[in-house]
Amino acid sequence: MSGSVHVLNGPNLNLLGRRQPEIYGEQTLGNIETMLRDRARELGVGIDFRQTNHEGVLVDWLHEADAQGAKAVLLNPAAYTHTSVALLDAVLAIDVPVIEVHLSEPQTREPFRHLSYVGMAAAHRVAGLGAQGYLVALEKAAQL
Ligand code: DQA
Repeated sequence: MSGSVHVLNGPNLNLLGRRQPEIYGEQTLGNIETMLRDRARELGVGIDFRQTNHEGVLVDWLHEADAQGAKAVLLNPAAYTHTSVALLDAVLAIDVPVIEVHLSEPQTREPFRHLSYVGMAAAHRVAGLGAQGYLVALEKAAQL
């Protein structure tokens, strides 16, 4: 939908709630989606919420968000954050602003998580706030 906020979630985030809850919290991705939709309704913005375990699908969805004239993308690239030049290139290739979102704070975790390719092109970054971070990112997106 034109003008809507696309929320794109990468690999293993479908397991939220039971995936290392001490790091990622107890909320499921479904809970996060519901929370975002409730807030988006109040803000008067549409939400397109998706998850995939596949890198190229995230690339396709970034192109799609651009082609549809999305207002913004909230992107949690998960592990592809730290490996994917393809995602960096996709973010550089599109006009839609991308807000990088992480539940944890990768900067304070293992050194291999300190590098973010997506972060080299993202308009904003929200990390370390758990599920709440998605709401913070939505507020930022609504202000763009
Ligand atoms: C994550 C952080 C990444 O390092 C990790 O690979 C993930 C989730 C986060 O939301 O905290 O899968 O993006």
